[in-house]
Amino acid sequence: MQVILCISSTLFAIGQIIHMLPRQMNYKQVLWVLPLLIVVSYIQNTVAINSLKSAAQLSFDGSLSHPVEAIINSAKEGFDNMKRMQSQSYVVAHDEYIRRYGVEPPPGFEAWYKFAVSNNSPIIDEFDTMTKNILPFLKLSGKDILETMSALQDDARSETWDCTFSAREAQTSCTHPYRSWDRHISWMFDTLLGDLQLDLPSIRFFVNHLDEPRVVIPPQLTTAKQYQDQRFNITNLSHQPVYKTIVQPCESHKNRYEIDKGDALTFGLPFVTNSSSAIDLCQHPEYETQHGLIMSPVSFNLIEGLVPVLSTGTLSTMADILYPSPAYLESEFQYEKSYDIPWDDKANKLYWAGSTTGGFATDDNWRNYHRQRFITLGQNLGYGQHSYLQKSGGYIQRIKSSILDRRLFDVSFTRIFQCTWKQCKSQRNFFSPKSWAHKDAALRSKLVFDIDGNGISGRYYKLLASKSTPLKQTLLKEWHDDRLIPWVHYVPVSQSMDELPELVLYLTSTQRGQQRAQEIAEQGHEWFRKAFRTVDFSIYTYRLLLELARLQDPARDAIKVNAPL
Ligand SMILES: *[C@@H]1O[C@H](CO)[C@@H](O)[C@H](O)[C@H]1NC(C)=O
Ligand SMILES: *[C@@H]1O[C@H](CO)[C@@H](O)[C@H](O)[C@H]1NC(C)=O
Ligand SMILES: *[C@@H]1O[C@H](CO)[C@@H](O)[C@H](O)[C@H]1NC(C)=O
Repeated sequence: MQVILCISSTLFAIGQIIHMLPRQMNYKQVLWVLPLLIVVSYIQNTVAINSLKSAAQLSFDGSLSHPVEAIINSAKEGFDNMKRMQSQSYVVAHDEYIRRYGVEPPPGFEAWYKFAVSNNSPIIDEFDTMTKNILPFLKLSGKDILETMSALQDDARSETWDCTFSAREAQTSCTHPYRSWDRHISWMFDTLLGDLQLDLPSIRFFVNHLDEPRVVIPPQLTTAKQYQDQRFNITNLSHQPVYKTIVQPCESHKNRYEIDKGDALTFGLPFVTNSSSAIDLCQHPEYETQHGLIMSPVSFNLIEGLVPVLSTGTLSTMADILYPSPAYLESEFQYEKSYDIPWDDKANKLYWAGSTTGGFATDDNWRNYHRQRFITLGQNLGYGQHSYLQKSGGYIQRIKSSILDRRLFDVSFTRIFQCTWKQCKSQRNFFSPKSWAHKDAALRSKLVFDIDGNGISGRYYKLLASKSTPLKQTLLKEWHDDRLIPWVHYVPVSQSMDELPELVLYLTSTQRGQQRAQEIAEQGHEWFRKAFRTVDFSIYTYRLLLELARLQDPARDAIKVNAPL
C-alpha cells in the first residue's frame, strides 16, 4: 500500500516538474525514466522476496526438515525430563543438593522445601544459577563476610543499598549513603516475603540499584587470606570499554577462546543450541565489539573482590548474586489478558519498538551496540548480505542474498538518547525513529523481539506470558535461567543475529515453522502461569535468604568448596 502511494506521489511530482520546466527543453521527457526505475526495482524486489518465500516452503514443508526442528525436539525432551526429575521428597531434595553442590543445604532447607511443595512449585532442584553464584563466597568465613559487608557500607562509592530483612517484623528496610528512592527494592522484598512468617534470623544484604552488574572476582586472588588486607577495589568504568577487565576470570578457564562453532547440522548459521555457552564471554572474544554494555556502559561501577552483592542481571564472568528484578512485579510491565488477541488475529511478522538504551554513545561505535545492530538488520540499513537455507539438488544449502523482507520486520527506535549531542544527531539521521508506540503494540504480532537494554529487559515477562512468540537476545544471566528453556518457552537469538533473517522467514512463511512458533507461544504462556507466579518469586527469594543467612553466620567457618574463587 505504502509503496503504491509512494510511487504515485513520485509520478505526480515528476509530472509537475516536467510541466514547470521551460518548453524548449526537449529532453525533459527523459525524467519519466526515473519513476520507471523505481517501479522496476520495486517489482524486482517483490519477485525476489516471493521467490525466497516459496523456496522456503518448497524446502521445508516437504520431506526435509529445517535445522531448528531437531533443536526444538531435543529441547522439548530436555524440558520434559527436567520436570519429571524434580525431587519428590525432602530426603531426596536434600541429597540432590549435596550431589549438585558438594555441601550440605543451608539451615532451614526443610521448611523451605515444605513451603515450595505446598505452593505447587514445579521447580525444586533447579537452582544452579543461584547456588553456584553463592559457593565461591563460602570460602570466606561468616565473620569475614560480615567484615567485608561493613567495609562496603563504609565506602561512599559502593553505590549499593544496605538492606536488612527482619523476619519478626516481616519487613525489609534499605538505606543508602545519599539516595532516598530505592527503585522498589524494599517494596519487592516486602511483597514477596511479607506474609510468609519465616523462622529466620535478621539477614543483611547489599543490593545494586544500577541496571549494570558490579562484581568481578579477580583471578589472582586464590586464597581467602589475601582478602584480609584489602577486601575490594571500586573503579568507575562508566562510558569505557570493559571487556579486558571483565574477562580476567577467563584465565582460569580451560576453554578460553575455545569457540563453540555449533555443529554442521546448522549449516554455518549460529542457531543457539546451548544458551550458557552462547553468553559465555570466555568463548566469544568477538563480544568485545558487539554489545553496548561491554563497549560503553552507561554506568559501570566495578567492585573487584569477594563481595556478595545482589543484582538483577550479570555477565557470565561476573559474580553478582541474582534476584528477580522489581520491574517484573511493577504494574507497567504486567501482562493484561484484555490487551492480547488470538494467535490467528496477530500480524505474521516480528515486532520491536524501543529506545537506544544499552550503551552510551560518545563516538561512532554505537553502530555496533546490540540494539543498534538489531535495528540496522531489521530495517536492512546495512545493505549487507543475509544467509538463507534452501533445498538444492535434494540437500539443504546456505545461500547469500541482499534481500530482506521488510514486511516481516516491524522494528524501530522510538527514542534516541544516551549519546553526546553529535552522536544523537547522527543516530537520528541514520535510524529515522518513529515517534511513539503503544506499550502493548507488540501483542498484535505473532513474533515479538526482546533484547537487553542497559541491563535486563523489564518487558520480557509480558511477552512470555502473552500468546505471541518471544525471540530473545541477551548476554545476561538472570535468576530465571534454570527454569526457562530455550526453544520450548522462547526462541533464543545469537549475538551476531546472522541466523535471524532465515529464522524469521521459517517461522512466518512455512507451515511447519508457523506451527512451531505457535507451539512455543502456547508453551511459554502456560509455563509462565505455572512457574512465574508471584509465589514462585517468593520461593526463589526465600531460598536465597537461606543461602545469605548461612553465608553471614558468624559461627560458620570457611568451607572448602569445589568452585573457582
Ligand atoms: C586492588 O588494587 C590493588 C592495586 O592495583 C591491588 O594490589 C589489589 O590486589 C587489588 N585488590 C583487589 C581485592 O582486587
Ligand atoms: C563515573 O563516570 C561517569 C562518566 O565519566 C560520570 O558521569 C559519573 O559521574 C561517574 N560516577 C561516579 C560515581 O563517580
Ligand atoms: C553448554 O555449554 C556449557 C558451557 O560451555 C557446558 O558446560 C555444557 O556442558 C553445555 N551443555 C550441553 C547440553 O552441551
